[in-house]
Amino acid sequence: MYRLLFDNVLTRMDPEKAHVLTVALLRVAHATGVGAVARASTRPDQLLEVEAFGQRFATPFGIAAGLDKNAVMFEALGDLGFGHVEVGTITADPQPGNPRPRLFRLPADRALINRMGFNNKGAAAAAERLRARDRRSALRVGVNIGKNKVVPLEEAPESYQRAARTLAPLADYLAVNVSSPNTPGLRSLQHVETLQPLLSGIREVAGRTPVLVKIAPDMSDDELVAILAMAAELGLAGIIVTNTTVSREGLTTDPATVERMGAGGLSGRPLHDRSLEVLRLLAAHNEARLPIVSVGGIRDAADVWERLELGATLVQGYSEFIYAGPGWARQINRQLKKRLQRSRFSSFAELTAAAYR
Ligand code: FNR
Repeated sequence: MYRLLFDNVLTRMDPEKAHVLTVALLRVAHATGVGAVARASTRPDQLLEVEAFGQRFATPFGIAAGLDKNAVMFEALGDLGFGHVEVGTITADPQPGNPRPRLFRLPADRALINRMGFNNKGAAAAAERLRARDRRSALRVGVNIGKNKVVPLEEAPESYQRAARTLAPLADYLAVNVSSPNTPGLRSLQHVETLQPLLSGIREVAGRTPVLVKIAPDMSDDELVAILAMAAELGLAGIIVTNTTVSREGLTTDPATVERMGAGGLSGRPLHDRSLEVLRLLAAHNEARLPIVSVGGIRDAADVWERLELGATLVQGYSEFIYAGPGWARQINRQLKKRLQRSRFSSFAELTAAAYR
């Protein structure tokens, strides 16, 4: 069904219009009860449960930030079998993002390039949506925050704190995004000297809500290890690696076509190797056993398994969802269960822990 829709309708549309249509369809499905039917068949088996940041996740697999920018479809995504949805990036004030076109498909590479630029309706609007959510639901909702483009870098801490103050009480965790390539200067906040005060300020306003930091794959190994150590020292709840890359290496899509797409973050399969490498690096230096959320280039259950086996506590995906369609999480959960049953582990917690022995 999705194949037909994707091959005949969605691929012929502008990617962003296809996204808007998909959001509308998912929301209708949820509102009309189709979602409830889907939920019954997609509910992950209890075996898949994991604990992270003191909370239970129905499956270690969730949807990465950027798909549900305004917290309007997380329930519908939950219906599809994702254990958590990271909504956002949400900024303190609404902003339109970059001019279109700003989202491009590279089907030959199972990849996307985007320079959306945090288009979102702002923290207050998202808060209203999040306030209405069913807190008894098993779905965990993380809220990813960023700074408004018009805010100068020196004032970034206040901008993040304002978003955090509004959203932390409504979030299962906060993700601090300092790694988007599409807000000028944002990634410079990743230097330990600027990141440390930024994160401790956010922690103060976040209260008991766990705070994680999301990092770019384009940092040097030394910088990555330094951020991990700092995150552990600050008592952060975890680290999310990685965001999109500014690199264009290893693509099979015609270079002139890629060039025409212009600036932006590359995601999907071409990010796989670097994301895996970053996970390996951090796990090797993770004396504090800080929970690692691994994201970048996930296609199937084997990929998710590998990340857990290398020490990740949770795994996220985004780009492949666009190509694989709504059955993606369900299929991954099913295969994860089979793998776990065939393995010598009785839970994913054991699988992750084995990486640190
Ligand atoms: C993203 N991503 C992203 N990340 C983030 O922290 N805030 C955001 O607003 C966005 N927006 C966004 C838009 C689009 C169109 C894409 C494709 C991606 C990055 C995303 O969360 C993830 O880190 C990367 O896409 C890598 O994972 P995949 O896509 O390779 O599974």
